[in-house]
Amino acid sequence: SIYNCNVIELPKIHNRAGNITPVNNYTDIPFHVKRVYYLYDVPGGETRGGHGHKQLHQVIIAASGSFDVMLDDGHIKKLVTLNRPNYALLIVPGIWRDLLNFSSGAVLLVLASETYDENDYLRDYNEFLEFKSGL
Ligand code: TYD
Repeated sequence: SIYNCNVIELPKIHNRAGNITPVNNYTDIPFHVKRVYYLYDVPGGETRGGHGHKQLHQVIIAASGSFDVMLDDGHIKKLVTLNRPNYALLIVPGIWRDLLNFSSGAVLLVLASETYDENDYLRDYNEFLEFKSGL
């Protein structure tokens, strides 16, 4: 549920020459990563996302810069700001998400539990609500 879509604090290995954040399957995040992708060069004012997933688990990280994630389970909405590279937002299946307010230079890193599958997308909001009501 949307109550499981929480921000996870990832490890940060810090020294005077900078930071490292490792992400290990099942220990730092609650699933096994099969795919990594990243979103960048988003023009000012643009919105991305605008879909849900049937099965996919994801974590979203602001590897650089900042952006907002609006989560929506069909009833409840939750706005999360990501702006530090050692925090990850977990998004479970069945959640509509909009990505907005990208800072310039923002890099949105996604770790996903499955390879790309267009059939897993709910791209129409009414189709999303129908999917939710059938669960
Ligand atoms: P989409 O997930 O809709 O982007 P966003 O949610 O960031 O707005 O994907 C945009 C396009 O990229 C769509 O045509 C599918 C393609 N795509 C892939 O081919 N592989 C992938 O792993 C992803 C995430 C998208």
